[in-house]
Amino acid sequence: METFQALLTQKLAEALTAADLPQAGAVTPATDARFGDYQTNAALVLAKQLGQDPRALAQKIVDHLAVSEWCDPPTIAGAGFINLTLRTATIAAQTAGLLRDEGLGVEKAATPKRIVIDFGSPNVAKPMHVGHIRSTVLGDALARIASFLGHDVIRDNHIGDWGTQFGMVIYGWKNLLDRAALERDPIAELVRIYKGANDRATADSAVREACREELVKLQAGDAENFAIWTECVALSLREFEVAYKILDIHYDIQRGESFYNDRLAGVVERLLKSGLAEISEGAVCVFFRDIPELADKPCIIRKSDGGYNYATTDIATVDYRINDLKADTVWIVTGAPQQLHFRQIFEIAWREGYRADFRHITHGSILGDDRKLMKTRSGENVALRDVLEEAIGRARKIVDEKNPDLPEAERQAVAKIIGIGAVKYADLSQYRMTDYIFSWDRMLSFQGNTAPYLQNAYVRIRSIFRKAGEEFVPAKELVLVAPEERNLATRLCQFGEIVPTVLNDFRPNVLANYLFELANSFHAFYEACPVLKSTEPARSSRLALCELTARILHRGLDLLGIAVPEKM
Ligand code: ARG
Repeated sequence: METFQALLTQKLAEALTAADLPQAGAVTPATDARFGDYQTNAALVLAKQLGQDPRALAQKIVDHLAVSEWCDPPTIAGAGFINLTLRTATIAAQTAGLLRDEGLGVEKAATPKRIVIDFGSPNVAKPMHVGHIRSTVLGDALARIASFLGHDVIRDNHIGDWGTQFGMVIYGWKNLLDRAALERDPIAELVRIYKGANDRATADSAVREACREELVKLQAGDAENFAIWTECVALSLREFEVAYKILDIHYDIQRGESFYNDRLAGVVERLLKSGLAEISEGAVCVFFRDIPELADKPCIIRKSDGGYNYATTDIATVDYRINDLKADTVWIVTGAPQQLHFRQIFEIAWREGYRADFRHITHGSILGDDRKLMKTRSGENVALRDVLEEAIGRARKIVDEKNPDLPEAERQAVAKIIGIGAVKYADLSQYRMTDYIFSWDRMLSFQGNTAPYLQNAYVRIRSIFRKAGEEFVPAKELVLVAPEERNLATRLCQFGEIVPTVLNDFRPNVLANYLFELANSFHAFYEACPVLKSTEPARSSRLALCELTARILHRGLDLLGIAVPEKM
């Protein structure tokens, strides 16, 4: 289904051609409803380009703008904006069309891509902490949206399972392990032995050397160390799985760092041979002498002790994704501190001739009340599972209060939907680069731009239908009389415009804000317009608006990875 924005953009392009003007400007939703539904700044852009009077240009464009089938006559405002107001009948017809459209107005991408998305990607033998929410939840939302738009998406968990931490972990395993503790809480015990080994190594160079030897043995394929490593990875994965299950996250493939281990020597050889890498102070490096900001930041791909590193692995990863997985698009979601790393990796990939749309999608941090990185009272990272458990516990209290009649099992299920939804939405409704303060009270509030507010809007609509006790029959025609009806319908028609734009700069918050505004428009409509008590044809038409609002809230939240309850 073509959106109004796409239609009007097309008409603008035709008008510019007919008026012998170059293509310029865009059609966007009106910033102020008093001026109409859409506007274009084309005349202003052209005036600058051509050095002509903007209002005269606007008039010339309007003279050629053939939109009378859908709009009232266009008007010119201010310095040369062209304002477009849809005819109410046009909106009604489009909205009725949405009822029959499975995509709810969202068109599939014209050129589907094969996208590998690398997100979450936690490190083995370390606990998942609250900071992992961002990459995991952001990546999941982007993957859902890309799939919905018809792209072929491969979700890859690039777990950190081959780092230098294993020297310490294996030393700790052999010298410090408490088996009973490992049974009880594997990750806590792995962290404890890692820290213990680290402390000893710092104090004692012999231990430091011993740890290094354990790592070398592992990398050389020593059977005992390999078995320990395998067990550590399995224990960590089990822990990750618990979190993924609660968060409803899935991956298509899991190619951790270790997967690339036997390709690393080849990477270095290849880059040396092609002359892109050189030996410098015993290490193998790629220099970027022609890029001023990277001129003094070479990328080391083999350390002077012969070891490979994070960068070597990521260069091997580029090759695998393009040549084996046949990706034409690669998205990597991590915190902002890895910007330099991926700048270098993409630059190397480009120099080697790998052609794909590489994007590093970065995000900010989650802060505590003190505006510093969120930590426990004792200064540790806050464990992810603690956060998730607390979210569900707090939501449970709210459900107990609000709906004590709900059966026990249902209450627990609803609490999970609300609690996890709140945590995810608090993250996704922020611009990804913004650092935000983690606040239970705010995210669990039923007022404001929160998941519970949106879920509640959905639940209210479901209860209208339960009260009606009738099957929903889509109205053939909508009648939009009250301004609140027109406003709600216009918003419903914008879902198809909003969803694709999320991927322009990877901003799920654009979708979140849209859903918030949709819920607001719905509440305004519901205040002003009786639904079940109204007479035909208003009644069917209003029920259709309710149904569509529910469908779009449901679908929109689903694209953010958030579920909706039927009651709450
Ligand atoms: N394991 C890394 C971390 O925790 C993230 C990996 C991101 N992906 C990659 N291909 N390097 O920071």
